[in-house]
Amino acid sequence: MTTSAKRAPVRIGVVGLGRLGKRHAMNIAYRVPGAVLAAACSPVDEERTWAREALPEPRIYEEYEALLADRDIDAVWLVTPSSLHAEQIVAALRAGKHVFCEKPLSLDVAECERVLAVAREYPHLQATIGFMRRFDPSYVDAYEKMAAGAIGRPFMIRSQTTDKNDPEGFFVRFAPTSGGIFLDCTVHDIDVARWFFGNARATRVYATGTIALHEGLRECGDVDNGVAVVEFEGGRLAVFYASRTMAHGNDTHSEVIGTAGALAIGHYPRANRVDIYDADGIRNECTPTFFERFEEAFLREAQAFVESVRQRRQKAQVQAGGANLPHDDAQIGATLADALEATRIGRALREALASGQPIAL
Ligand code: NAI
Repeated sequence: MTTSAKRAPVRIGVVGLGRLGKRHAMNIAYRVPGAVLAAACSPVDEERTWAREALPEPRIYEEYEALLADRDIDAVWLVTPSSLHAEQIVAALRAGKHVFCEKPLSLDVAECERVLAVAREYPHLQATIGFMRRFDPSYVDAYEKMAAGAIGRPFMIRSQTTDKNDPEGFFVRFAPTSGGIFLDCTVHDIDVARWFFGNARATRVYATGTIALHEGLRECGDVDNGVAVVEFEGGRLAVFYASRTMAHGNDTHSEVIGTAGALAIGHYPRANRVDIYDADGIRNECTPTFFERFEEAFLREAQAFVESVRQRRQKAQVQAGGANLPHDDAQIGATLADALEATRIGRALREALASGQPIAL
């Protein structure tokens, strides 16, 4: 590999151009140094039309297999239904592509394990799951403060992922491929808890839930409001809340409680710094969706992925030149193993919700 190849841009194909895929595509196309949005793929006509108009001349594919066969793509960026992630990651790795995939890794633990097994065959390829809170400046700052001892020994996490109600019923249509509220929403909080608790093992889970508004969720065993408790080894506890029915906006926040203090992240989710003074009093608008809340995190996550791929190339070049570097598993963000554990806990919560019983892990 030449020096120019080493610093050559990472050519990315985005797959899935729905609610979030369009956002990732715009980031990669216009805001990530060292990345080129080389291709976009969607089975939906309107989404391909959007790509032609909004993106800088990517090759457009209707089928994922055709994008994978494109030899001028280095990395695949999957923003597809969660039920497809595992098989699409495996196909990307087998096609020799680095892969970024949105959370969750899979809705099924055995499928997660299969992805990990295949990834071990391709250690030179980056494979990352999109738990973007690991890149959110406030979560990162809280983690660093906790790690520096600011709150003593952390033993409790309270964390919630709550979406603004969508009266059009997007969440009802989305539910059959989402894995349910715990695998779709709480999976983020699970990852935060594991991250802050230093990858502690979860030992038992409890869950309950209710349908406050969206009766259509009953058919696939889902709820629009769920509460969960997860016990971790070492006496550590996490309490999670997930909702699809918030009136005021996306209100996602977390609290880490320790023996000498607590850190709250994202409480009071104001959309911006404007205060509205009117006959109702003084107030702020709220972040409307997850994207406004985590816009910076999505961008940093993409930048880190691209930088990591470039560093891997650099390392490969040094090794090809005869240097014998130690094997380095350094990964950015959540690893496949982290994502597997998040799915394992999320599945257990789903089972606890369905059975009404605690589930030992
Ligand atoms: P969506 O339903 O709006 O978009 C799904 C996209 O996948 C559509 O473009 C659809 O055309 C495409 N698609 C469906 N089947 C396909 C196939 N066989 N090959 C290629 N493309 C296909 O869903 P949304 O909300 O964009 O979610 C997508 C993924 O992103 C999900 O896994 C979800 O969990 C994740 N997500 C993550 C968030 C986060 O906070 N990190 C927030 C929202 C979604």
